[in-house]
Amino acid sequence: MALTLETINIHHPGHYARIGHPWAEWDLLRRDAPVYWYEREDVDPFWAVTRYEDVMTVSNNPEVFINGGPRLRLTLKGRPELLRAGVDAFGQERDWDPLEPPDMVFMDNPRHRHMRKLSSWAYTQGGMRRMAGHFETLSNNFTAAFVSELKTASERGESVDFVSGLASKLPLAAVGEIMGLAPDDWRQILIWSNALVGHIEPEDQIAGETRRETGYRSIYEFRCYLEGLIHESRANGAARGGFVDRLVHHKVQGKLLNDQQLIGYLLLLIAAGNDTTRNAFAGGVAALIQHPEQRDLLCNNPELLPSAVEEILRWTSPVANFLRTATADFDLSGTLISAGDTVALFYPSANRDERVFDDPYRFDLTRSPNPHVTFGFGAHFCLGTNLARSELKASLSALLPFLSRLELGGEPTRLAMTHVVGYSELPIRWAA
Ligand code: HEM
Repeated sequence: MALTLETINIHHPGHYARIGHPWAEWDLLRRDAPVYWYEREDVDPFWAVTRYEDVMTVSNNPEVFINGGPRLRLTLKGRPELLRAGVDAFGQERDWDPLEPPDMVFMDNPRHRHMRKLSSWAYTQGGMRRMAGHFETLSNNFTAAFVSELKTASERGESVDFVSGLASKLPLAAVGEIMGLAPDDWRQILIWSNALVGHIEPEDQIAGETRRETGYRSIYEFRCYLEGLIHESRANGAARGGFVDRLVHHKVQGKLLNDQQLIGYLLLLIAAGNDTTRNAFAGGVAALIQHPEQRDLLCNNPELLPSAVEEILRWTSPVANFLRTATADFDLSGTLISAGDTVALFYPSANRDERVFDDPYRFDLTRSPNPHVTFGFGAHFCLGTNLARSELKASLSALLPFLSRLELGGEPTRLAMTHVVGYSELPIRWAA
């Protein structure tokens, strides 16, 4: 059936679970209605912004287009936002302030600038360069274990899930180490952060629990865990000297952060670095398998790795959108956005904008220039870009010698989410 503006779906998590990125829908929007007032029964209306230039204009005007809400994420009507503190049992039990933003993504200047400074020092290019060797060692070990598992499985005629088997390993270890979290806790942290993106394994559900209930329980337990770390750090007077200590004992604008602010901050740094990079790696490897000529090009020319990483970031665009709220009327390329309106910036669509990218649906590891907006743009530009790039480079580099033996081993499954898009399972086989 031909797509029409009136019937396209870009808001329902189930649609993303079925087809992944709604590329055809975004193509239609970019062509016919680049700034489109999107109204559907089960979601509050919003402006869908799909062209590169408009995404940049909105991102470059943070005084008009604020992050501070009231609306935080594209959720279906009647579904409370998981992130919003104070709406769930954990926040209510602790009398949290429902008006406090969940984390700095939802703050605006000047407060945002001060909050960001508290952690940005840890994610600089220099800091990541110092960790590059360590990431390489970790990646080589994870890859060797995965390849061995793959070979054993293939003898039984089976495939192995690439997401849990390899793609989730380095992001988790990197975040765990940077944050100074105990390695014994990492597996549980993975289960909790998976639940945040709606990825719940049946064995992690308590009998009788619905998936949504598991999601709420997971975020409750995750907050309890972080609360424990914070209280321990306060009691011990920054004795461990890690990241948690730094956040707990440093003042922002003359004041120490309270539990609510600290838990939000830690949750952001842990969760933002986990699922996104994993999806870029898994999606990138799937793309390399589907484009054998590009895979061979990379295997024969490993010096292409840096530009391959950029193309994989553009191609996979794991973050589908972030929202802004207009604080004043604004003319966006001839369409009037009114004060109070919600605006959704669709980064993957901007990354396929034919006005900016030559033949955007060509997966081209040598693409240059490649000014993708996978990490957003402007004041909230992703804090973890250096980390994500460094992880992707190490992961791909370790996998390169085995890449030509990997093939897709069945139908992948996808996350049921409109914010982070990617595979929840990607079956891979070892080619004979
Ligand atoms: C491929 C991987 C990643 C993608 C696609 C991605 C994407 C994004 C995007 C689009 C934003 C912009 C938010 C906005 O404009 O409102 C953002 C912000 C952010 N990202 Fe990432 N990210 C990735 C990896 C990471 C990693 C590894 C970390 C680890 C710390 C991280 C931490 C953050 C933080 C803290 C922010 C908020 C920055 C702020 O509000 O000032 N991200 N990310």
